[in-house]
Amino acid sequence: MHIKLAPSILNADFGQLADQVRQAEEAGADWMHVDVMDGQFVPNITMGTLVVEAVRRATRLPLDVHLMIEEPRRFVREFVDAGASSMTVHVEAVRHLDATVAEVRGAGAQVGVALCPATPLAMVEEIATRLDLLLVMTVNPGFGGQRLISETVDKVARARAMLDRLGAPAELQVDGGVTRDNVGELVARGATVIVAGSSVFVGGEGISGNVAALRARMQAARP
Ligand code: DX5
Ligand code: ZN
Repeated sequence: MHIKLAPSILNADFGQLADQVRQAEEAGADWMHVDVMDGQFVPNITMGTLVVEAVRRATRLPLDVHLMIEEPRRFVREFVDAGASSMTVHVEAVRHLDATVAEVRGAGAQVGVALCPATPLAMVEEIATRLDLLLVMTVNPGFGGQRLISETVDKVARARAMLDRLGAPAELQVDGGVTRDNVGELVARGATVIVAGSSVFVGGEGISGNVAALRARMQAARP
């Protein structure tokens, strides 16, 4: 099974965004992850549809849009039109999850649901079989470059067990604080899509070397 790597552009150099996205694609990224924040659901404001459009023009990879915004239903159509391939909404930011999931799918995008570290897996149990992606946050959403919360590693294993028990085909994504030192344990516990921001775009051996290093650890840890 191929474990996917989705670099998060949050920590990219925005002065050279298109070039950095192309470098990540050439290095072998599977998806590009775009973190949309509204300053309400999370204490930070980042980017919106204009940046999604710019990334869309820079790559042919699927665009995985992570909506850290209150009531994302209001913007589903705009993000699909901007080029989002999949959209992930936070269970904590949505009043009617069933209707929101249906709205994303109806707009023609793949649909994901995200859980903050303290949110129980049970919050998505009733809907899990209808998702393309379940995102288990490994940091509190809002900023790149945070340290992975160690308790979330076991939650990834329990999410894997829940999806398997329900026969749910959803990808299991992890996001936040992923490094080449901890990516193996996340893959070993059943994560199938790895989001990595600073460990791709900041320091190390540059984008292509960082992607290669993460990829090597991911391959070695496959269950
Ligand atoms: C956090 C975002 C993440 C984050 C990833 O709120 O959803 O995608 O930017 O960045 P790193 O890998 O640096 O934690
Ligand atoms: Zn994210």
